[in-house]
Amino acid sequence: MRIWAVANQKGGVGKTTSVVTLGGLLAEQGKRVLVVDLDPHGSLTSWFGYDPDTIAHSVFDLFQHQGKVPEGLPAQLITDTSCPGLSLLPASTALATLERRMVGVEGMGLIVSRALAQLWDDFDYVLLDNTPSLGVLMVNALAAAQHLIIPVQTEFLAIKGLERMLHTLEMVMRSQKNRLPYLIVPTMFDRRTQASVKSLNLLRKTYPDQLWRFAVPVDTKFRDASQAGVTPSSLDRETHGVRAYRHLVDEMLAQTETVEAR
Ligand SMILES: Nc1ncnc2c1ncn2[C@@H]1O[C@H](COP(=O)(O)OP(=O)(O)OP(=O)(O)O)[C@@H](O)[C@H]1O
Ligand SMILES: [Mg+2]
Repeated sequence: MRIWAVANQKGGVGKTTSVVTLGGLLAEQGKRVLVVDLDPHGSLTSWFGYDPDTIAHSVFDLFQHQGKVPEGLPAQLITDTSCPGLSLLPASTALATLERRMVGVEGMGLIVSRALAQLWDDFDYVLLDNTPSLGVLMVNALAAAQHLIIPVQTEFLAIKGLERMLHTLEMVMRSQKNRLPYLIVPTMFDRRTQASVKSLNLLRKTYPDQLWRFAVPVDTKFRDASQAGVTPSSLDRETHGVRAYRHLVDEMLAQTETVEAR
């Protein structure tokens, strides 16, 4: 099992879209893929037609056992999606109350890790979607993940947000005594606008080693796919946005192999 977190403290940068698109593409390649919604807003859950306000079982259930994860519970929480080979561990809006409840609970930062350990042989890839704020859920994701994707919108304010995210990452990694390799993925790139082009150049200059060499273009098909409740590649295999994410999947598979070869 390889576990990738997709995170950025900045909102609306394409985290959920990246999780669904990458998950769909990996599933199309025959991989067994699990996407996990760690955002109390439940956008990933809603994408696949489940209502985070009323859903009976979700990631929330994992946090109800004093830092332990009962045997068999994670598997019971998983549901199907419209995409064969792609499973979902959904969120419920109750997750918003976690910060308050989990204060001082031993092992609270390792719940997602422990849950995924139980599913180790059931999935090839796990993608963790995150809420745009640092809290117990993001700490769980960063502790469980082996790789991190940081989507960044190609505009100046978003680049400021990236600095904040990297600072947070540094802090969390120091406390977890862990090093997480990360890949910065420019999103919503519009080559016709100066703002997009300039910010991509700035990203290239500032993060030459961590920046993915391509960018995900602006593509309205992503919104169409979320409205239809399907993965973008099942709506349109060859749209520009999907093609870009296909390159990113190649990069992910290459990084996975490098790690496994060590
Ligand atoms: N490459 C893209 N081109 C055009 N629109 C996009 C692209 N990626 C995402 N979007 C749209 O931008 C909006 C925000 O995307 P998304 O929900 O994936 O971001 P997010 O980082 O998960 O947001 P949040 O922080 O609120 O969870 C959505 O309406 C989505 O359809
Ligand atoms: Mg989201």
